[in-house]
Amino acid sequence: MTIATSVQRRRFLSQSLVGLAAFTSFPSILSAMGGMQDFPKVIPNKASANFKADVEFDLFCRSGSVSILPGQKTQVQQYSAVLKTGPKHTLIEIPGSYLGPIINLQKGQKVRINLYNQLPEPTVTHWHGLHVPANMDGHPQYTISPGEVLVYEFEVLNRAGMNIYHPHPHEATAKQVYHGLAGALFVRDAEESALELPSGLYEIPIVIQDRRFDHQNQLIYASSRHDHMLGFYGDRIVVNGRPHYQLDVESRAYRLRVLNGSNARIYKLAWDDGTPLTVIGVDGGLLEQPEVKPYVMLAPGERLDVWADFSGRKEGSELVMKSLPFSGVLPKMAERMGGMMQSSLSVGSDYPIFTVRVAKSVSDSPKLPSKLSTIVKHSLSEVANPNNPLPIAISESPMAMLLNGKAYAFNDEQPSERIKVNTIQLIEIFHAHGAGGHGGGMGMGMMKQGGGMGMMMSMAHPIHLHGQQFQIVSRSISTQHSDAYASVRDGFIETGLKDTVLVMPGETVRIIKPFQDFKGLFMFHCHNLEHEDMGMMRDFLVE
Ligand code: C2O
Ligand code: CU
Ligand code: CU
Repeated sequence: MTIATSVQRRRFLSQSLVGLAAFTSFPSILSAMGGMQDFPKVIPNKASANFKADVEFDLFCRSGSVSILPGQKTQVQQYSAVLKTGPKHTLIEIPGSYLGPIINLQKGQKVRINLYNQLPEPTVTHWHGLHVPANMDGHPQYTISPGEVLVYEFEVLNRAGMNIYHPHPHEATAKQVYHGLAGALFVRDAEESALELPSGLYEIPIVIQDRRFDHQNQLIYASSRHDHMLGFYGDRIVVNGRPHYQLDVESRAYRLRVLNGSNARIYKLAWDDGTPLTVIGVDGGLLEQPEVKPYVMLAPGERLDVWADFSGRKEGSELVMKSLPFSGVLPKMAERMGGMMQSSLSVGSDYPIFTVRVAKSVSDSPKLPSKLSTIVKHSLSEVANPNNPLPIAISESPMAMLLNGKAYAFNDEQPSERIKVNTIQLIEIFHAHGAGGHGGGMGMGMMKQGGGMGMMMSMAHPIHLHGQQFQIVSRSISTQHSDAYASVRDGFIETGLKDTVLVMPGETVRIIKPFQDFKGLFMFHCHNLEHEDMGMMRDFLVE
């Protein structure tokens, strides 16, 4: 090497170091996301000969195009499936929708799913809500490359309920879900069928999402830092993949299985004529008794089972499910600017979601059962840590969204993130401050949030935990936030089993969650999918 070239080389190196320093001290979205994650490459799981599947299907992830708006078709990514073994009704297409087919499973079934990645990018599928072994849960470490096949095998242990399947690749979950990769997965069981609730034509999935389209009818996705910090919001609502969704019904009772499949948008659901919502179930299945609510808050990832009785309504009459006004879920500054920034459909404004039209009057309708189910609940005396809840500390800064003071990293469990298998844990989810944007760490102690910067940045986060469903023990709100909270507080349902809970600014939520049967990594993260991809996600190592 000549002297000249080595000088040049040194200059080049020092310039790149300056560049790197500038890059890290002024984080771009990407560095705020925690950078590239190195997962060890695992060989995709294959079918095992001794697993006798009651149900088997191929599930394809691929690019496609569908008609959503009048005119040009929209490029999407979507699931499709082909049943190989099992009852015919296992897979039900939603005609014309980009959503994946509805998957119907029965408790106790052994299920094999062959996931084919026909996308030009890595993916993996997660069964949101299902209690399955860690290596069947769609953890990002099991992401497969284009052309690869991943085989899932598990037994359905869940009680009846509505679950979701969606991609979970590292830092690309939000983008793939937004482009269409998502579907509903129902589990049925004997307790539910004994109730003879409305079924078939009278049980309707309602998947609520928001999307933004350009003039060529193509999806627009997050481009600014702002889109990531607050989450990405569409300017129009789609239900089951359709704009202006209208449901033609008979004048009788229906069961509406509602899922908030939006990336970030939170809804305050209510009927427009003031009829209260009769809720019969949430994320983890049926409640014990129906609950009647003036409105229900539904955050991304959450589900709602609604008894909607149209008896006595006149043929031709209409009823609109809408989102009512509320405040407090966005940072104060953004909320003030909200009206200007998202003119047509700002978060917390008043807008319609879908219309029900009574197309036919009938004289007969099933009656709402007063007792729906029995929920296995755990008391504080059964938890391993009644006086020492495990923390899930939320921290927000202009640079990063963190849990327990850290952005997501693989094999990075802190002591409070290691859990003994077959224990029941008390967990406290709260807003922390002082962690800053650069992985302050739990060591310094995550203090509960006071005022100042933390409060200006503070926003609502739907916190989701993989694995078994949990129960909500308590919610408490700090007095500084109680005004905004008043606009949402009657919309929470605490009596059912949950896997996702909306934690409002200034709010502390305590939950009891079992960690039974399976060891391994089970994620917990914000289900604002932009936050998740920014690293607002951690693993519990169950061992
Ligand atoms: Cu629905 Cu880990 O997500
Ligand atoms: Cu999940
Ligand atoms: Cu969040």
